[in-house]
Amino acid sequence: MSVAEEVAEQQIARRRSFAIISHPDAGKTTLTEKLLLYGGAIQLAGSVTSRKNQRAATSDWMELERQRGISVTSTVLQFEYADHVLNLLDTPGHRDFSEDTYRVLTAVDSVVMVIDAGKGIEPQTRKLFEICKQRGIPIFTFMNKLDRPTRPPLDLLAELEEVLGLQTYPMNWPLGTGFEFKGVFSRMDKQAHFFERTVRGAHRAPEEVASLNDPVVRGLLSDEIFETVSAELELLDGASADFDEAAVHRGELTPVFFGSAANNFGVQMLLQAFVRYGLPPQPKHARESATDMEVKPTDPAFSGFVFKIQANMDPRHRDRIAFVRVCSGRFEREMPVLIARSGKRIKLNSSHKLFGQDRETVDEAWPGDIIGIVGHGDLRIGDTLTEQTGIEFHELPRFAPEVFAYLHSDNTSQFKRFREGLDQLLQEGVVQVLSVIGSNVRVPLLGAVGQLQFEVVQYRLKAEYGADSRLERTSWSALRWVDPSVPRAEVDAALLPTGAKLAEDQNGRLTILFDSDWSMRYFAEKNAGIKLISVSAA
Ligand code: G4P
Repeated sequence: MSVAEEVAEQQIARRRSFAIISHPDAGKTTLTEKLLLYGGAIQLAGSVTSRKNQRAATSDWMELERQRGISVTSTVLQFEYADHVLNLLDTPGHRDFSEDTYRVLTAVDSVVMVIDAGKGIEPQTRKLFEICKQRGIPIFTFMNKLDRPTRPPLDLLAELEEVLGLQTYPMNWPLGTGFEFKGVFSRMDKQAHFFERTVRGAHRAPEEVASLNDPVVRGLLSDEIFETVSAELELLDGASADFDEAAVHRGELTPVFFGSAANNFGVQMLLQAFVRYGLPPQPKHARESATDMEVKPTDPAFSGFVFKIQANMDPRHRDRIAFVRVCSGRFEREMPVLIARSGKRIKLNSSHKLFGQDRETVDEAWPGDIIGIVGHGDLRIGDTLTEQTGIEFHELPRFAPEVFAYLHSDNTSQFKRFREGLDQLLQEGVVQVLSVIGSNVRVPLLGAVGQLQFEVVQYRLKAEYGADSRLERTSWSALRWVDPSVPRAEVDAALLPTGAKLAEDQNGRLTILFDSDWSMRYFAEKNAGIKLISVSAA
């Protein structure tokens, strides 16, 4: 092995790229901040969340940002922990789903799922989880807010198994909950870890470690807690299988950590296990001369794909950043690369490493890292950048929209700008556009996974193109692509449910719009020969 190959292997093995998924309010922002605190990236917890609060509405766009917490401005946070480089990608925390969230999940290798232990699994966690499951991404679970009354820990595990179909392995076990929460028993080192609360959890929580039968430990726990914990631990040791790292990597088993992000309890344990058992950068699916293949992180030629485009990150300049996940090779500043879609060569001279709102020019990046390319207007979502001709990633599918609306431009003098802006946003993949077959309505019909995507379109049309627009919601609420193998005549001959319509997506692929999930399922049942697809290939 050459020295360069050895360096590359070490750099790849050190990297862990992940996202945190949760239902709003479960504690994603707080945990993010605590991970940064333990990673030494910030000195005092509170700086991220206080920014979140300070950014009180100053404009509609900022209002969107405010609702989305730290999402809009901190797409990527990179920090080091225990000789590892962690890339934490933010997923929008808005109650609404957007395709953005899904796309971010294509750029990570593992996920941390935060659950409010008082509430258990909530709808958004579940939806995000489904995507992770489809992709087989390893999931680490953090049961948060143990300092408040919670549901019984055993019930929380049972829920993960029953509702999500995940096997669980508790890595630690809570010593009491609510006011009585004292710390956790680590099943890895068989030690009780006691924590001290610090003021608002601003500093690392001081920690004492001892065995559960240590007389001092006994003195710290009430008889009731001691007995419950001992019985539960015995049950866990007897009932659960051994820790199976391979099953974690396949996304079948989730290591579970109990803790309190606000009080820094259990955060370090999560980090330690995460760098140890989380996956390093994984191979990515691509196509070469119409053949499916995989690009390995150790492949020497640089490659990556654009998973997100963000405009207006800095309101002072109208700028646009394309976020690229590095998949193979070593990225160097100023390197010439090829955009696989267009065959165009560009020089990546305006590449940045991002930490929240701060940018720093990046000279070098490795697989698993995310770089931000500023100002290249010709980059699109899903684009492959490579040093090598011929390969194209197909990691970014399109998800079936769930909300549909006509977007009107009522002011004729603005129409040109409206069209130009909308075309740009469609190219960026902000929303999807559909045309209903046989309809003579000229107004564009937009489809999105979440309402927020429409708000972003309207805001950006106004802010960047000076075009007003008016949204007219429709009653459609589901879409399916028709499998291309189904003969068109068969679809035309089928009886569509009331309200359903045939439409084409922007690539000319045939779809059916339905009024409800129920009517979609009914149609699918009655027309078993017409195969419907919910996720379209890139
Ligand atoms: P999110 O990003 O998932 O939406 O959640 P975020 O971290 O903003 O946390 C939501 C609320 O839950 C916050 O309270 C936060 O302080 C609280 N929280 C997070 N972790 C814990 C925990 O371990 N224990 C307890 N008791 N609370 C926790 P807030 O009232 O919205 O704000 P503030 O009180 O922090 O100002």
